[in-house]
Amino acid sequence: MQKIVVFISGRGTNLSYLVDFCERGFCAAKVVAVISDRPDAPGLNIALQKKIPIIVVDRRLYPVCEAFDYIVEQKLDILQPNWLVLAGFMKRLGARFVKKYEGKLINIHPSLLPSFPGLDTHHRALLAGVKWHGATVHFVNEELDAGSIIAQTVVPVYLHDTVDTLQARVLSAEHNLLPKIISLCVEGKITLDNGDVKYDRSLIENSMSYYYE
Ligand code: GRF
Repeated sequence: MQKIVVFISGRGTNLSYLVDFCERGFCAAKVVAVISDRPDAPGLNIALQKKIPIIVVDRRLYPVCEAFDYIVEQKLDILQPNWLVLAGFMKRLGARFVKKYEGKLINIHPSLLPSFPGLDTHHRALLAGVKWHGATVHFVNEELDAGSIIAQTVVPVYLHDTVDTLQARVLSAEHNLLPKIISLCVEGKITLDNGDVKYDRSLIENSMSYYYE
């Protein structure tokens, strides 16, 4: 059974959906630990309820990026995970860390990258007047929200949308997308090869883009 470590900073709803997907047997992996950079992240309660070990590496105690990364690496050396999933993890990891876990480190970002990297994506999407928005699952590289794109989920933007309504629509689509993609990675159907995402033949016919009304 492959091992997943999920990194969070907040609510943890993507964590919850991923854990359920694994527990229901749709993904041949187990979430073996949840790492948070915030001791008060509400998502830690989800992990506790599901009896998943939690590891808090408080960002305030390790303001230097390399020091934070080093502590996390020590924990990972013990856990030996196959996959590291950033699901609402709001801290940047250093270049050395990212290189070490290249091809195993996956992030979900709430926009159709390369549009709107960084923060406040829903607000910026509304300001820009885009008609389609969504989320992207990508391999992480040393640049912010710029790693190789694996898959995207697309939602419509309506004239009456607010940040809250748009955010809720995107989040719901994220809950569908992330577990499916992680499961395909676990099955070896999606890999990173020299910076290029490679898909198993069985996936080539299917678009790696999902539309939700
Ligand atoms: C999601 O929108 C994710 O794309 C972004 O942060 C949010 C996390 O939500 N990176 P949750 O903590 O999983 O509810």
